[in-house]
Amino acid sequence: MIEGVETVRDALRVGGTGRRTTVCGWVRTFRSGKNVAFASINDGSCHDSLQAVFELGLFDPGDFEGLCTGACVRLTGVLTDSQGREQDRELRAEELELLGPSDSDYPLQKKKHSNEFLRTVPHLRTRSATFTAVFRMRHHLATAIHDFFRDRGFFYVHPPLITSSDCEGAGETFQVTTLPLSSVPLRESGEVDYASDFFRRKAYMTVSAQLEAEPLALALGRVYTFGPTFRADHSDTRLHAAEFWMIEPEMAFFDLEDDMKLMEDCVRFIASRLEELCHAEIAFLSETVEPALASRYDAMLRKKFSRITYSGAMELLGSAQDGFERKVTWGDDLGTEHERYLCETAFDGPVFVTDYPATLKPFYHRLSDDGRTVACADLLAPQVGEIIGGSQREERLEVLAGRMAGAGIDPETYRWYLELRRWGTAPHSGFGLGFERMLMYLSGMSNIRDVLPFPRTYGSMV
Ligand code: 4AD
Ligand code: MG
Repeated sequence: MIEGVETVRDALRVGGTGRRTTVCGWVRTFRSGKNVAFASINDGSCHDSLQAVFELGLFDPGDFEGLCTGACVRLTGVLTDSQGREQDRELRAEELELLGPSDSDYPLQKKKHSNEFLRTVPHLRTRSATFTAVFRMRHHLATAIHDFFRDRGFFYVHPPLITSSDCEGAGETFQVTTLPLSSVPLRESGEVDYASDFFRRKAYMTVSAQLEAEPLALALGRVYTFGPTFRADHSDTRLHAAEFWMIEPEMAFFDLEDDMKLMEDCVRFIASRLEELCHAEIAFLSETVEPALASRYDAMLRKKFSRITYSGAMELLGSAQDGFERKVTWGDDLGTEHERYLCETAFDGPVFVTDYPATLKPFYHRLSDDGRTVACADLLAPQVGEIIGGSQREERLEVLAGRMAGAGIDPETYRWYLELRRWGTAPHSGFGLGFERMLMYLSGMSNIRDVLPFPRTYGSMV
């Protein structure tokens, strides 16, 4: 940092008034009267801006050229108690240096902009009040997650981003190759010949780190990953990104009940941490984005999460069928309208849906004694749908091999995964927490594009 410069946050909160200080920041608004001018300066260090007051007599008129919304300034002056009602303190500016001028073309003028418009200027929307708030919350959410797992004795592990497995088996992978696209080498059979590709085999960006987290959990006990995840899912919705972050804890000797308790404790911990550290951001976003934000925090912090089995959910949905575009019966996957009905109408808060039919879930979920459901739990939340997907893993070699065969998976590709069950198998469980979905729920932002600094979604990479 430039020597002697203090953040706006410190200027507003630390020490008393009457002291001289220097701050740097971007001008949110500037207005000039006959004798005085006011600028609101924000440097992102906190939600509040610092009001700078300029006695025009102390400056040359030329000093203010280019000083308008969007400009970057360095100001030195004395912090004083403010006469205005908006703030306790302000800066009586004595020296002004325009680090970066602006002009009336700057896209973020004072008027309110739609999030759709702001998405077209991702390099500038970062400076708006909404997005600085969201990205500060993003930071606090990430550190809260690390704190939660560290405090419980989990090891933070780093599985690869390039992998040969398609964990979720949905075929929504981005392939990684260095083969020339204009002349892909083919075998006689017409299939692509990967022998000359970089890894000498087919490779993908990871869709989930779970399979690689399992060997680590079956050695270190309790581990978690926190990294980028890539899905070439052709869903152009407000909930799907092609590149998002996932937190994947994996625990030896945990059954589904332990797993669900950890999910609930984790969500509660991070919500309480954000409520404590992001007071100003939550108040601002409640006012401008989502009036129900405070009640969301209440639902997470002060109520036990509801639970329902998939079969129970089907009964509930059955009696409410008339309202749905797509009718569902046992064995069908839940669509957005059904998930919303469960958490918004039936339970009005986060709800675990457990024990899905085996046919709806990937091969690694543990088959239950009924032979048709698996030991799994999805956590659904109002407005954002599925935040967490988790399960107890199939630890029985024969059952796992049978499930893989049923899903048409080549056992050779997953030999190592089967070997974990051959030697020293152990009951174990884990889950995947969608970082952006969680942040959407905690910030009130309704589109995943607005919680990622540079969103990558189907058909779009601004
Ligand atoms: O339910 P999913 O697909 O679960 C897994 O990948 C497991 N292998 C996780 C595990 O058990 N270790 O994904 C987990 C979560 C979802 O609940 C959702 O919150 C988020 O990841 N998610 C997405 N978030 C944004 N954009 C997408 N396209 C997402 N797909 C999943
Ligand atoms: Mg899922």
